[in-house]
Amino acid sequence: LTGVDMFAGLEPEVRQRVIAAAVPRTYRKGQLLFVENDPGDSLIILKRGAIAVFRTSPTGERAVLTVIRPPDVFGEVSLLDGSARSASAEAIEDCSALALSRGAFIELVHANSHILDAVMRSLGALIRRLTEQNADHVFLDLPGRVAKTLVRLAGDSHAPMVTIELNQSQLAEMAGGSRQSVNQAIGSFANRGWLRTEGRRIVVTDLAALRRRGGMTD
Ligand code: CMP
Repeated sequence: LTGVDMFAGLEPEVRQRVIAAAVPRTYRKGQLLFVENDPGDSLIILKRGAIAVFRTSPTGERAVLTVIRPPDVFGEVSLLDGSARSASAEAIEDCSALALSRGAFIELVHANSHILDAVMRSLGALIRRLTEQNADHVFLDLPGRVAKTLVRLAGDSHAPMVTIELNQSQLAEMAGGSRQSVNQAIGSFANRGWLRTEGRRIVVTDLAALRRRGGMTD
């Protein structure tokens, strides 16, 4: 749990109590963990693998809101307000995780007010993310959003080349555009020498150019 923001800074014995109260879970690649509007009964701490969080339109299109990678937690929204899941979640790799029930979580919060600080930080981060996504849809065109998405997926890497394991339809869902328009953007980035595609991989060769195209300061 040390790497998980929500539990960073907790006393080791409190962290042990969190671990003791949590139930180990495994999810196979392609498995749905829950869909939006399911009752939200647990916080998930992801230890291994990757989870796509998405919403589905009435016509069945998916918009990926984020991809969770370890160490991270999700499912905190319904845990806090006790209502339904605000989005769906699917394992996009084989995953192992810990699930903390609402009851266990509330008990921990009562016993350790520090956890509340952590929860507030995590909600603050989510609100900032939503604000940024909102602004991106207003200020950036689709290629700009694709560029920014790629930079995010590349993480904090300063390596000259970064490989991203994501196919183009997942990228299309994530950048909020059709697969065709995202392919066009990727094609034009490839023509400019910013990246190349290798099957399901995208190898970014000029992260700085993508950062500029995504309106991000160096
Ligand atoms: P919950 O509503 O319990 O279940 C879905 C989870 O997805 C939610 O908690 C958050 O952890 C996460 N989530 C929902 N919306 C977003 C978003 N726009 N960006 C990132 N994560 C989100």
